[in-house]
Amino acid sequence: MREPLIMGIDTSCDDTGVAILRGRSDVLVNLISSQVEFHRPFGGVVPEIASRKHVEVIIQLIDEALNRAEVELEELDAIAVTYGPGLIGSLLVGLTVAKGIAYMKEIPLIGINHLEGHIFSVFLSFPELRFPFISLIVSGGHTELVVVKDIGVYELLGSTRDDAVGEAYDKVAKLLGLGYPGGPIIDKMARNGDPFAIKLSIPMFKGKTLDFSFSGIKSAVYYYTRDRDYRVEDVVASFQKTVVDFLVMRVKEAMEETGIRKVAIVGGVSANTALRHRIKEEGIEGYFPSFSYCTDNGAMIAEAGYYRFLRGEFSDLSIEGNPSLKLVE
Ligand code: KG4
Ligand code: ZN
Repeated sequence: MREPLIMGIDTSCDDTGVAILRGRSDVLVNLISSQVEFHRPFGGVVPEIASRKHVEVIIQLIDEALNRAEVELEELDAIAVTYGPGLIGSLLVGLTVAKGIAYMKEIPLIGINHLEGHIFSVFLSFPELRFPFISLIVSGGHTELVVVKDIGVYELLGSTRDDAVGEAYDKVAKLLGLGYPGGPIIDKMARNGDPFAIKLSIPMFKGKTLDFSFSGIKSAVYYYTRDRDYRVEDVVASFQKTVVDFLVMRVKEAMEETGIRKVAIVGGVSANTALRHRIKEEGIEGYFPSFSYCTDNGAMIAEAGYYRFLRGEFSDLSIEGNPSLKLVE
């Protein structure tokens, strides 16, 4: 039997992602149109600009994906698209285009939860990974620690109570005037800093929890730098060390609590070199997707779509965008 061809579309935030996947993990094309230069002057994503830019590029990007993969629209077996969580104006662009193609070509539409897409991104790099495993989803909008028991069967162990970890990176970079997005900038700059220069603490919680909190660490950076002279490389290295310590601590606690040893680390912040290094150093059986599958992309949506496709789990064309869609209800 011919392997199914699935197009994956992600327009949850500021990147337009279109990919075509053949079978389980053969990514024929994975195109990402970044809007970062349009949001940079504002130091963060401006929702109105994001949706307008998605509209401007999406059709062209789909055409280019089909051309590069040498696939005709008629050959697609399904179209998978993010329907939440994310910015509603952005979500609607991808969803509307995907619905149009599904209707026109009479192929199944598969609505995907963006967080499930991040979870499944690990299979693009490690197709042989088996359930169950722990997944740490670390991105600009989310910080979630989950047990992935099966397709669609997730147990939430902990999540952030305030800022997402990527958001903290972006805010710290903004307050230090380093530019946007902050994650890759801090990652690079921290290599020339002393991670022990400034004492920043991991937040304490009442009672037993696997939750996260990053706004206190961000505020500590703010007050420290407001009141004295500092070497910026040392500040970002110390910030990054505290964040990585915290993430690794929670991963170890989750492993202890569940008895599960395999840990997939996904989402934009999983591109972080210090985090990758520490997980390895700690001897944790960590699975990091390739860099191009860490930040938002269409391939991970197509991958999640593939698993849904095999089960015949399709969406109705009336499916609506849901900006606050949860992974676990
Ligand atoms: O997954 P993603 O592309 O979008 C969301 O779903 O949010 O993640 C984007 C986030 C941004 O906050 C960005 O600063 C962060 O991922 N990021 C990083 C790195 N690369 C991207 N954070 C730390 N280190 C990196 N190398
Ligand atoms: Zn994301």
